[in-house]
Amino acid sequence: MGKEIRLDKFLADMGRGTRSQIREMAKKGRISINGQPVKKTDLKVDPERDAVAVDGQPVAYVTHEYYMLHKPAGVVTATEDNLHRTVMDLLKTARKDLFPVGRLDIDTEGLLLITNDGELAHQLLSPKKHVDKVYFARVAGALPEDAAQRMAEGMTLRDGTPVLPAELAIDGTDGDETLVRLTIREGKFHQVKRMFEALGCRVTYLKRLSMGPLALDPELPCGAARPLTEQEIQAVKER
Ligand code: URA
Repeated sequence: MGKEIRLDKFLADMGRGTRSQIREMAKKGRISINGQPVKKTDLKVDPERDAVAVDGQPVAYVTHEYYMLHKPAGVVTATEDNLHRTVMDLLKTARKDLFPVGRLDIDTEGLLLITNDGELAHQLLSPKKHVDKVYFARVAGALPEDAAQRMAEGMTLRDGTPVLPAELAIDGTDGDETLVRLTIREGKFHQVKRMFEALGCRVTYLKRLSMGPLALDPELPCGAARPLTEQEIQAVKER
């Protein structure tokens, strides 16, 4: 037998409304379990065995969902915010148990994984796991000649925080800016910006290209999201 959950949680997780809305729906006889209308929403259901329906339409309980979002600048990596639009607003799903895995700053763009798989999130975020994250950055001005070497050795940020060795690749220049790719293996607060600051440089644009085996889909427009493919899900789980 699978794990039983309350009927109202089942339906709220699947985006069918708040618990009080679901209670109202049940009172009106709109919800059934195994074909029998139910009036109470604190009943337990087994998502693997019980057939739950709303208005006669079956509702499947999909346990885990995984989305790739191409985060634009100007939205915050949070599930709720009073001031700004959040990454969850862009996902346009009513499902309530999803959350972003790690965070990108409001002005950072690029790959963000959104899921409700807490175990996978933990695996990807745990400092002990050293998951590679690759960023593209535009940096104002020229970098010191020994920038790559200092980053490769593991540098100390201005406030004394040590960071793990990182790989810096210079892609070229554009006017006064240097274009780089930086691979880091941890996720300290504002880490990329602070690493360049420690070299006396300022990041003017930042975009995450990949996280472990998961790469930002070049076909995914900025601001759009899509479910991960089965291969992508397997790849992130297996790393
Ligand atoms: N490093 C930063 O400085 N900002 C981000 O958003 C991600 C990594």
